Amino acid sequence: TLTIDPTGKGASIDDTMYGVFFEDINRAADGGLYAELVQNRSFEYDRADNAAYTPLTGWAPTGGTLDVVDDDARLNERNRRYLRLGLPAGVINSGYNSGINVEKGKRYDFSAWARTDQAAGTPLEVGLTDPAGKDLAPRVKVQVRGDGWTRYTGTFQARESSTTGRLLLTGGGTGTLRLDMVSLFPHETFKNRPNGLRKDLAEKIAALKPGFVRFPGGCLVNTGSHYGYDATTNWERRRSYQWKDTIGPVEERATNANFWGYNQSYGLGYFEYFQFAEDIGAMPLPVVPALVTGCGQNRATDDPALLRRHIQDTLDLIEFANGPADSTWGRKRAEMGHPEPFKLTHIGVGNEENLPDAFFDRFTQFRAAIEARYPDITVVGNSGPDDTGGTFDRLWQLNREAGVEMVDEHYYNSPTWFLQNNDRYDRYDRNGPKVFLGEYASQDNRFSNALAEAAYMTGLERNADVVKLASYAPLLSNEDYVQWRPDMIWFNNHASWGSASYEVQKLFMNNVGDHVVPSTATGTPANLEPITGAIGLSTWATAAAYDDVKVTSASGQALFADDFSAGANKWTGTGSGTWAVVDGAYAQSDATAQNTLVTAGDPAWRDYTLELKATKRAGS
Ligand code: AHR
Repeated sequence: TLTIDPTGKGASIDDTMYGVFFEDINRAADGGLYAELVQNRSFEYDRADNAAYTPLTGWAPTGGTLDVVDDDARLNERNRRYLRLGLPAGVINSGYNSGINVEKGKRYDFSAWARTDQAAGTPLEVGLTDPAGKDLAPRVKVQVRGDGWTRYTGTFQARESSTTGRLLLTGGGTGTLRLDMVSLFPHETFKNRPNGLRKDLAEKIAALKPGFVRFPGGCLVNTGSHYGYDATTNWERRRSYQWKDTIGPVEERATNANFWGYNQSYGLGYFEYFQFAEDIGAMPLPVVPALVTGCGQNRATDDPALLRRHIQDTLDLIEFANGPADSTWGRKRAEMGHPEPFKLTHIGVGNEENLPDAFFDRFTQFRAAIEARYPDITVVGNSGPDDTGGTFDRLWQLNREAGVEMVDEHYYNSPTWFLQNNDRYDRYDRNGPKVFLGEYASQDNRFSNALAEAAYMTGLERNADVVKLASYAPLLSNEDYVQWRPDMIWFNNHASWGSASYEVQKLFMNNVGDHVVPSTATGTPANLEPITGAIGLSTWATAAAYDDVKVTSASGQALFADDFSAGANKWTGTGSGTWAVVDGAYAQSDATAQNTLVTAGDPAWRDYTLELKATKRAGS
């Protein structure tokens, strides 16, 4: 029995309640959301990023002599290595996944920095080819002139499609040609921003209508060496993520070792994150390191000068986001094309901190400095790597005692846990810090997971006076470079598809209420009538018996849904189980199926959606 009080008013729900958490994990940035198609464009891949890397990873010679050099002829101090060709010579880049995705009729923008020691110049021919060397577009030809670094550009007009494209560069004549920052972008990016984002992925995120974007990590943020910072060279691999490394001209952004075992270019940097959040109408929510290495590592910096610098960097970040265009850091934002402020209101300090007291000591210093200068900014505290235990309790105690406004919680649990803990926040102190559920997911990508998450989210929403922000994690995964699953959106070099969890997130984010309508439920749903007999997934999926089967509830039954009339057998998993009718909808107790790309390039492929409610075709 559901009892609803239509006149009662429960908690108000903020428009920003549901958001996304972007972390550069699973190649979510390079080879993912960041639209650059050339892998290792600046020849900075290094063994320190991944033992399998060399400076030529992603590249292969096609003739002549070539080597990667770090000497005084470098492009700049932060982009130290370059490719040296003994002419005539050539080199080819194979992009990410199976190669560069090229679509017939579309344009692709090439650019490279180059210099030549030949007084008369050096011809450079650039091809967009298939692996066998066949051209997919007319070639771009440039004449490199002068022995100083100059940027050269050209545009390809594709006359054929391929998911295995290659970028081929051939230098003619004799002498030495130097190349760096060899780049290829789809001409069309999300909102056509320069140095922009891959359209299909950005559009999938935008379609969620997220209230906020938490970025850039995760463990990515608070790990790495904080100890080797050298103010002179200003660079060391495996530094923690530091926002100042990620802004300004892309050729001056050093690459870094990513916590997740690859190289990150920072082409997708803080300006681009802020711009993206603005473009999709979401509140930006950056997270900065607190100089305590969480995520299983247990070290806290005891270097006061380093701590002071990071605190200053955080103040500078706020100025970069919100400061007037004539302030030091606001000017840098303006120079990058955004004189107006980005309207930053929240900032996270730390992530999954394992050393509660050490962290809280540093956090307190960050918070005091931020609040003194920017009293309107909410500084988000941390509650440790998971949702229970000594660290969690201690951090909550410290946060509570210090009157911290909002605390970040993370947990990854089984679907059963999510179904059983719907009431978690019913018990939270109404007068304590608010909750930012910065990361959560049930541990798989099946429909049953999505439904458990949906059920759980009703509990978040019921407690919207305490839970102010919530984001599923992680957001993106390139299927060929997976460090973590489940993930919300999957992709390869030419396609992307939302998991069932994506559809649940979309449903909630697209339908944020104004306030909770109080209700109570008792008893077992009386109208759960099991359908017996052989209603196997493949039978009814192909039989097109139902126009539109949608989900109404996960109350003890796992459910799943689709428009089956559209096609056959696109699900993985057999989906056999007991079916039940729930308020006219069809439910299955073993929802093992999941959204997946069944056959890469299958023209019948499409993005399945999970919706609510069901209709049954007359007579079936
Ligand atoms: O979301 C993936 C990882 O999970 C994040 O980097 C980290 O914060 C958590 O452990």
